[in-house]
Order: sequence, then structure tokens, then C-alpha cells
Amino acid sequence: MERNKLLYEGKAKKMFQTDSPNRLIQHFKDDLTALNGAKKGSFNGKGAINCAISEILFKYLEGHYVPTHYIERANNTDMVVRKLEMFPIEVVLRNIAAGSMVKRFKIKEGEVLQTAVYELYLKDDKLNDPMINESHALAFNLATAEQMRTIAQIAKKVNALLRSFFERRNLLLVDLKLEFGHIDGEVYLGDEISPDTMRIWDKISNIKLDKDRFRLDLGEIDKGYKEILKRISNV
Ligand SMILES: Nc1ncnc2c1ncn2[C@@H]1O[C@H](COP(=O)(O)OP(=O)(O)O)[C@@H](O)[C@H]1O
Ligand SMILES: [Mg+2]
Repeated sequence: MERNKLLYEGKAKKMFQTDSPNRLIQHFKDDLTALNGAKKGSFNGKGAINCAISEILFKYLEGHYVPTHYIERANNTDMVVRKLEMFPIEVVLRNIAAGSMVKRFKIKEGEVLQTAVYELYLKDDKLNDPMINESHALAFNLATAEQMRTIAQIAKKVNALLRSFFERRNLLLVDLKLEFGHIDGEVYLGDEISPDTMRIWDKISNIKLDKDRFRLDLGEIDKGYKEILKRISNV
């Protein structure tokens, strides 16, 4: 499948049209951003690593009856996906306290949460992605009530599946961000699942292996991403 016109360039990926009106090519860039784009960086090979990690995880989820946009790999940095009408919502699941949760509440980083926390954010860089709840989503007509129920159901299932998937590889899934879209009303998991969109710690040492190495200037960002790919490959 060939790339045609560039449809959209975001912070971490480019979406291209293809010869098929219902398929896109999702290209993973080497760029890294944090603080809503204010902090920029990159490393050679990041796009390929994130493409590989996303592919492994999408295939794993498909194998467990999660509907995803993933169709096939096009090359090292590109995958063919179903074209979705995206919901402008970022869905966050948290198993262990970190990031904004630690700032917002009186809770220490690393504290294991009693049950997974499910959060919604409006995907709008200009507004700094404000937190919303289901009632905002309905009031703003972002999705139907049934779609919101499906999103919650799939998101919680994805979190449970991936948490144990990583646990078996001695990795802790601290939190993750998901994006959903629909085709004729039918909900699919879209976007990417990578160290840019998840917090992953080594289970023994609690060493951070994800984009926090970049956000917090911890160095050796590439090493963390490569370690995650190594541990989830060939199993
Ligand atoms: N299957 C899909 N169909 C259409 N759009 C998608 C699909 N998967 C992801 N997207 C959207 O494509 C863009 C991906 O590029 P990205 O660099 O992540 O952008 P952003 O900086 O806006 O997050 C996002 O806006 C995402 O919502
Ligand atoms: Mg994005």
C-alpha cells in the first residue's frame, strides 16, 4: 500500500491517504515532544521502535477481541490502519500514581492504586487538554452515550490485558493514554500504544523506561524504548 497525500501532521506521527478511501498510512516520526509541544527533542530510530511496539500491542489486543485500527505493517516506520472519525478525547488509565495525578492529589509517585483510575481529557492543545467527564462528552456532543460506554469498556479491558502482558515481562504498566474513533458509529481503538503514550517501569528496580526519561531529562531515552521493545518481542 502506497502513501498518497499527507492528510495530517501531528507532534509524533504523520497520517497519509492511500489508494483506498477507508485506509490510512500512519507514519511514526523520530520527534519527541512534552509539555504540550513546548519541549522538543528526537532520537534516531524512535519512529521505528514505536511502530514496532504499537504493532505488537495492537496484534496482541486483536487476539483478545479488542477492535483496533491496525491492519498491517507497511515498512519500518509505517503501518496501514483503518481510517477512523476520531473522538477528540484522550482516555487515560492509571494503575500506579505518577505524573499529573501526583501533582493534583496528595499521593506519592509509585503508590499502587486500589483499582484502575479512568480519566477523560478533551484533546485540544489550545486549551491544554482539560480534564472532562462523561457528562461533558455528551453535553459537547463528542460521542453518544453508548459510544462512551463502549470506550470505557474497551479502555478498561485494554488496561487489564496490557498490565498483565507487561507484568509477565517484568514491566509495570503505570498508566496509559488511548484514543478512539469510529467507523459508521462502530468504536475502534486508534492512534498508537508506545512509550510515548504509556509509563512503563522496570518491575524490580522501578527504573523509568518511557517518555518520562525525556520529560524529566533522565538521559538514555533510546535505551529505555529499546529495552521495552526487547522484552515484548518474540514471545
Ligand atoms: N485510525 C485513525 N484515523 C484517523 N485519524 C487517526 C487515526 N489514528 C490516529 N489518528 C489521529 O491522527 C493524529 C496522529 O498524529 P499525532 O502526531 O499523534 O498527532 P497529535 O499531535 O495531534 O496527537 C492524531 O490527531 C490522532 O488522533
Ligand atoms: Mg498524538
